[in-house]
Amino acid sequence: MLDVVILAAGKGTRMRSDKPKVLHTLAGKSFLQHVVDRAQEIHARNIFVVVGHGAEEVKSEIADPNITFVDQHEQLGTGHAVQQVLPYLEDDAAVLILYGDVPLIARDTLAKLAAKASLQSMGLLTVELMAPHGYGRILRDDIGRVIGVVEQKDADELQQKIREVNTGVMAVRSADLRRWLPQLSDDNAQGEFLLPDIIAMAHDEEMLIDSAQPSSPSEVLGVNNRLQQSQLERLFQQQIAEKLLEEGISLADSQRFDCRGSLHAGRDCVIDINCVFEGEVTLGNNVSIGPNCHIIDAHIGDNVEIKSHTVIEGARIEDDVIVGPFARLRPGTYLYSEAKVGNFVEIKKAVIGEGSKVNHLSYVGDAEVGANVNIGAGTITCNYDGANKHITKIEDGVFVGSNTALVAPVTLGENVTVAAGSIITKDVEKDSLVVARARQRSVEDWQRPIKQPK
Ligand code: UD1
Ligand code: MG
Repeated sequence: MLDVVILAAGKGTRMRSDKPKVLHTLAGKSFLQHVVDRAQEIHARNIFVVVGHGAEEVKSEIADPNITFVDQHEQLGTGHAVQQVLPYLEDDAAVLILYGDVPLIARDTLAKLAAKASLQSMGLLTVELMAPHGYGRILRDDIGRVIGVVEQKDADELQQKIREVNTGVMAVRSADLRRWLPQLSDDNAQGEFLLPDIIAMAHDEEMLIDSAQPSSPSEVLGVNNRLQQSQLERLFQQQIAEKLLEEGISLADSQRFDCRGSLHAGRDCVIDINCVFEGEVTLGNNVSIGPNCHIIDAHIGDNVEIKSHTVIEGARIEDDVIVGPFARLRPGTYLYSEAKVGNFVEIKKAVIGEGSKVNHLSYVGDAEVGANVNIGAGTITCNYDGANKHITKIEDGVFVGSNTALVAPVTLGENVTVAAGSIITKDVEKDSLVVARARQRSVEDWQRPIKQPK
């Protein structure tokens, strides 16, 4: 059985932040959550997260019934951190140790490594780096067997030339950890209890230290400062973009694309530059999205055109719809097929029926709009009386003239025509014309006031 331990007690001083380091984000999700998600994917029986700095904040943000948080009150080193978990580990467990600030570790790499923890062996993830400075170096004997790890600060000149480094990720049986961790000493340059020192202990017991490498070195990049965070973000976004391109989505520029959640698309979708996708977004076939759109938790059907500068959140859009440019669809928007929503239109908690149009400068909120309705420029549903929200109902075939205020609760029956500039406060029967504005009056030969001499 596999237990996962994630070390996340460190301070992250170099982030220069009030927030614990592991809560900083990559693609909109905290570093720690990325690691937790990978642990779930390999079906860990237990997930232990060692917390210290900002422990309460971490616990409340990563709240998950499958995680056991273990406090490390003083950060005395990575070995000391794992030691805090010993009382919770089951005797038969293979323990996979991960770092909360190494977010891109891949599931396959972990699965491969976890399989290496046995009675006779432990697994160690290593990687060759062009610039190994700062990392623990892997020591091997004449026949290439791993015999230990030496930290940067303890390494002599020759050892500093070694380019194979410790990623920190390892897989060990809990029984072995129980034997080794209490023997760690803090007699080293950092004055800490160093987890990698157990490698030499394993070697002394003639265990095999079975090393593995990640499929890509980027998997084991850690984040210590905001520069590394931004570099990792671009790297990760590029990976997401490449995957989408492989799946058949066109991106105008893979470097000007951001996905902070999941994006699924049918065939022949085209996404222009600078779009940001968050949460769960699904696109049907043949969807085109113009430049500078922000789309959050949305389901978009086939042959939909989203024009530039449109913001969509929590909306469902059926087939053959056109939205934007400069439209804002807020949560609870449902656009039926062939609807059109144009520029400077805000829609919230409203259904817009099949073939209906809201083309310019309008607010439609808490509304049910039927099919083939035309809502003129500058129409406002006055849904809020200062205390409560009320519903506006607009039945099929209604024509609302420009600059109309619909004071909810109010219903416009089928095929009603509303004269421009009306303020509608009462329900209107079907098929009628309603005019609710001051009558036009002209005064002939009107003399304007004349300025009095002082
Ligand atoms: C560690 C390894 C080094 C390896 C490198 C890879 C040790 C001693 N060294 O060095 O061999 O090359 O990672 O990135 O392990 N943490 C705690 N409690 C503590 C100390 C640390 O939870 O008392 C956590 C940190 O929050 C972090 C992780 O452990 O997530 C690693 O600690 P860090 O101080 O970054 O170790 P490195 O110096 O990077
Ligand atoms: Mg580190």
